[in-house]
Order: sequence, then structure tokens, then C-alpha cells
Amino acid sequence: MKILGIETSCDETAVSLLECEGTIDTARFTVLGDALNSQAALHAHYGGVYPNLAKREHAKSIVPLLAKALGRARASTSGEIVPLTDAKQEHVEKILEREPALCHELIEFARLYPKPDIDAIAVTEGPGLAPALWVGVNFAEALGTIWDTPVFGINHMEGHIASSLAQAKDDGRYELSDVDFPVLALLISGGHTELVLAKKWGEYTIIGRTRDDAVGEAFDKVARTLGLPYPGGPHLSKLADEARQRDEKADISFPRPMIDADNCDFSFSGLKTAVLYAMRNADVSNKDRKTLAREFEDAVADVLVKKSKKALQDTEAMTFVIGGGVAANAHVRKALADMVKQQFSDIDLRLPEVKITGDNAIMIAIAGYLRILGGAKRAGALRANANLRLEV
Ligand code: KG4
Ligand code: ZN
Repeated sequence: MKILGIETSCDETAVSLLECEGTIDTARFTVLGDALNSQAALHAHYGGVYPNLAKREHAKSIVPLLAKALGRARASTSGEIVPLTDAKQEHVEKILEREPALCHELIEFARLYPKPDIDAIAVTEGPGLAPALWVGVNFAEALGTIWDTPVFGINHMEGHIASSLAQAKDDGRYELSDVDFPVLALLISGGHTELVLAKKWGEYTIIGRTRDDAVGEAFDKVARTLGLPYPGGPHLSKLADEARQRDEKADISFPRPMIDADNCDFSFSGLKTAVLYAMRNADVSNKDRKTLAREFEDAVADVLVKKSKKALQDTEAMTFVIGGGVAANAHVRKALADMVKQQFSDIDLRLPEVKITGDNAIMIAIAGYLRILGGAKRAGALRANANLRLEV
């Protein structure tokens, strides 16, 4: 089955075409074509993602990205351009009434481009930034109308979990097999910090979440304090690593908020403020910036390790997986891997390929396939839901 994935929940616009095979226990995925546009450089100016700018950029880049992904896939087609009847065109215009430029571009595309050989469209319906999500959802609905293809709404967080569990094979495929449930997922991104327990696909319990900032948000804000560009996570990590290589440590130690609390919740705002004060008080040298970055990263890793350890002890989890942009962080990966190796040697640890940790559309197509195999039926019009929950 061929699934077209579409992701527009935050500041990445992405379209992927995947060939999906196998059962829910032996699923395999081949990425036939993938195209992604990151808006990070545009948002850098605001020090964070600016929703209306994100929406505008998604609307501008999504048709070219669709063409690129299909081109890369050399998507086989029936060779036939599906005639755009008046009724269809009216429907598409209604769906995209708030996006006239995008509507026009899509209709032009539909007139020129034969229908590719696809079976379903999977699109992120939430959580995320409402204006950004709506572009993807409406675009997917319009495309589904043009090509008579069913459209499925996908939870972005389920996408992170499923794609992080999938193992990258040498031939470039992803294999999602031998997953022992329950699965504990630590989801760490710019918008989320959650510990989620999955009893099976589609059945999730949130056992811990941040009470204020998300980890990635803390990385980005602290990075800004250190004078680094947005998104600052990778830059900050590089600085921290330079201090670690030279074995240089900061004179002060930052708080590890909530580390001893008897729950799996997180808080990162106090830690962020502590770095802010340290930067204000001292006559900060370049070396200090590196050691402060290291101390910050160590504090984050300590908290993530302690809370994940508690969650693994409190649950019967057989598999532990991390996902989201911050899952690319080498120090965090190593700290979590060391903890699991030393204390939970019977647990299957899955560290995702770095290139799949950030937002992408491959993960949305993967989650779409699982949903379809799980018997999901296309029902009614999709709605973007900024606060879509994993728990049902
Ligand atoms: O999952 P993602 O691409 O988008 C959201 O859904 O938020 O995550 C982006 C976040 C940003 O805050 C970015 O700074 C952070 O992930 N990030 C990192 C690293 N790479 C990305 N944080 C720390 N270390 C990294 N290597
Ligand atoms: Zn994400």
C-alpha cells in the first residue's frame, strides 16, 4: 500500500510517499520520495516559531514539495489526469476558501499532474500550531477530493513514537517489527516533554509531562541567552561538547528541577532562569559559555534519566524509545542508553536514527499505515486540533 504523508504542525513543511507492507507486527516501510522545507531560518528572527508566518510558509511551499516528493518517488501513475469536474472544483474551492493562492496552485497542479498510484493520504491533525495544522489538513482534504483518495488524520506524537520505534535497515527501509509492549516513550521536542506508556498501538497513557517549558524550548531559550541562533539545541550541544572534551566544568551547578519528586513530571523553567542569572551575574568569557552550556545539558540529561528510570520502574514496560527533536542530542542519548544498559538490561532500547527525530512526513505516513491496519475508517471532515491528545 502506498501512503502519502503530510506534516505541517510546526515549522517544517514535509511530504513523503511511502510503500508500506506487512502486518501490524511486521510492518516495513520504503521511503519512495521525501521532500521537506524547514522554516527555522525565517523564525530565527523571532527567537521562536511565529504561527502566522508558519502558516504562510506552509501554504507557499506545500505544492512544490508535493511535486518534488512525487518526482523523487518517480511515482508511477495511471498516466491519466483525473478530470476536475465542476462539482469537484467547487468542493476544493470550499475547502481552501481561506487559502486562495494555494487553492489556485493546487488546481493548476491537478490539471497538469496525473494521479499518482497512491492508496491513502495521512496528515497531521494535531497537536501543534492551529494555523499551521489547518494548512496541512485542508490541503490533504482537497487533494483527497481531487484524486478520490481517503484521508486519515494522524496524531503527530503517535508519529514520533511509531517512527522512532522503526529500525532503519541497511537498504534504507524502516522495519517496525518485534516491538514488545508495553512501550515507554520519552517524547522530547520543542513543544512537548512527555513520558507515554503504550499498551498497544493506539492505547496510550501519559504518565508524566512538563509543567512549564518543553525540553527543546528550554534548549532554545538558553541557547539564545548564550547568543546562539534559533533553533539553538544543536548549537548549544556543540558548545557543551567542547567543554566536555577539554574536561572543563562550570563553577556553579544548576538546579535539576523536580528530580526527587515522587512523580514522572518535569519542569524546565527554573533551570532556564538559572542559566539566565548566571549569564547576567558573571563577566562571562567564551570558556564560561561552554561550561555553562555543558552544565545545562548535564542538568537536562540528569532529569530525563531519573524520570525515565522511575517510569521504567513504575511500569511493566518491555521497550523504551525516545523521540522528538531533542532525541538527536548525543549526550542525552548516551545518558539514557547507559542507564538502561546498567539497570534494565532486559528492556529493548530503541534509539531512532537522528534524521528521523525531528518533524517529518515519513513518521506521519508510518502512523497512518498503523491506523489503517488497526481498522481506522475515514469518517467525516477532518479538523485541525491544536491540543489533540494521545489518550482517548
Ligand atoms: O521535534 P522537533 O523537530 O519539533 C517540534 O515538534 O518541536 O523538535 C525541535 C526541537 C528544537 O527545540 C531544537 O532545538 C531541538 O529539538 N533539538 C535539539 C537538538 N536537535 C534538535 N536539542 C538539543 N540537542 C540537539 N542535538
Ligand atoms: Zn514533533
